[in-house]
Amino acid sequence: MRLTVIGCGYVGLVTGACLAAAGHEVHCTDIDAKRIDLLKAGKVPIYEEHLDEVLRRAVIEKKIFYTADAGEAIRASEVIFICVGTPPKESGEADLSAIDHVARQIAVEARSPKLVVEKSTVPALTGMQLQKALAAYSRGGSMKFEVASNPEFLREGTAVVDFFHPDRIVVGVENEKSAAIMRDIYRPILERAFHCPVHAGKCPSGTAGEFLITTINSAELIKHASNSFLALKISYANVISDLCERIGADVEEVTHAMGVDPRIGTQFLKAGLGFGGFCFPKDIQAFIHLAGSVGVEFDMLKAAEDVNKQRIDRFFEKIHKALWVIKGKKVAVLGLAFKANTDDIRFAPALEVIRRLLDEGAEVHASDPQAISRTKTLLPSVAYHEDPYDALKGADAALVCTEWQDFRKLDWERAGESMARRLVIDGRNLYSPKKMQELGFDYYCFGRL
Ligand code: UGA
Repeated sequence: MRLTVIGCGYVGLVTGACLAAAGHEVHCTDIDAKRIDLLKAGKVPIYEEHLDEVLRRAVIEKKIFYTADAGEAIRASEVIFICVGTPPKESGEADLSAIDHVARQIAVEARSPKLVVEKSTVPALTGMQLQKALAAYSRGGSMKFEVASNPEFLREGTAVVDFFHPDRIVVGVENEKSAAIMRDIYRPILERAFHCPVHAGKCPSGTAGEFLITTINSAELIKHASNSFLALKISYANVISDLCERIGADVEEVTHAMGVDPRIGTQFLKAGLGFGGFCFPKDIQAFIHLAGSVGVEFDMLKAAEDVNKQRIDRFFEKIHKALWVIKGKKVAVLGLAFKANTDDIRFAPALEVIRRLLDEGAEVHASDPQAISRTKTLLPSVAYHEDPYDALKGADAALVCTEWQDFRKLDWERAGESMARRLVIDGRNLYSPKKMQELGFDYYCFGRL
């Protein structure tokens, strides 16, 4: 099938690349012409594991095309995936101006009926507005636009694998015809009838994801309800972690035993610096805002958000306790990205940690396997090191902010020899407290004995 993707950010590129790998012909466009030039030159503007290979193969097989001409992309297919950004406004409400802009483009440029699919994360009731906007912008023209909602559940860092092997594909539609089109689009994925570029024919066994057809409002709600629930889970674990510190219990023992109950599950119960990234912080705010706008108070989510904001304060309590005065100290920050396996620094806890360290007069040396170049422009006064051992040289303390595998594997005996002081304050609970103490480190972490 021929498909169009509008918006070549993280979601658009992963969606376009994976649908091309599943056998469709995908036409991608973006308002940023430089981004399209980069893509045409074979460069991938974000770091996401496997994405470059999948895109490269799609180009060779003539399954993916890039154009800065939105009209051309819109006319190239009958199904259009909207993958533009929906950033938060000051009030927390999602800014839907890019969706509105795309609706106008589609209405004006289309020459045949289209199924317009919301892939961007949007608050419930957006589909209804989109339908109205398409009708209004086509000025009563005879063109018929159907709308569908197809939220994504991709995690940065594992997005390509998540796309090919989803737990669920949620499709919110208004009629059977749209449902049938969406089913055809995802059929190769559901039936695993495609060459998986990640596993090269050796995909893990197990059931393919569930294809769930819902109303548009439900599909939109499912996305925010899922992300907010995961965020709640993390904040819950963080409060349990604080409690463990006061009582003298171990948060990992507690959350592991809780999670063994399948009704709870072990995932998203890791205590530490809390959640960041461009999804949870903005989605939780948008969901609170949406609930408020229809007269439902979602205090539970507000509490989860507050707990998350306080994680940095908790971290600094530990830093002050361990290091006492920060001014004039050389501090190594390990990790800039909001989580491992991505170069995304949006709402990354590490950035807030660094800002506060700089405010208090520290000399900050930072290392991250992927996110240094993105951070440099935002925080130019930090010294950056590709090699974490260089960042640790002469440091009075090491602060761990991201759970990269490279940091898990660090040789702390080696690092300790070059540090001014053997002090690690671990915001991601990466190391064994016992082992660190055996190596002569003062080791601080979250909620563990
Ligand atoms: C999240 C969801 O997991 C995806 O399902 C969803 O599609 C995506 O948002 C989205 O809306 O686009 P993502 O933001 O990539 O994915 O990252 P997660 O792996 O969910 O982690 C979010 C944050 O929570 C990270 O900062 C991570 O370090 C933190 N976290 C995660 C914890 O602090 N504790 C945990 O136990 C798990």
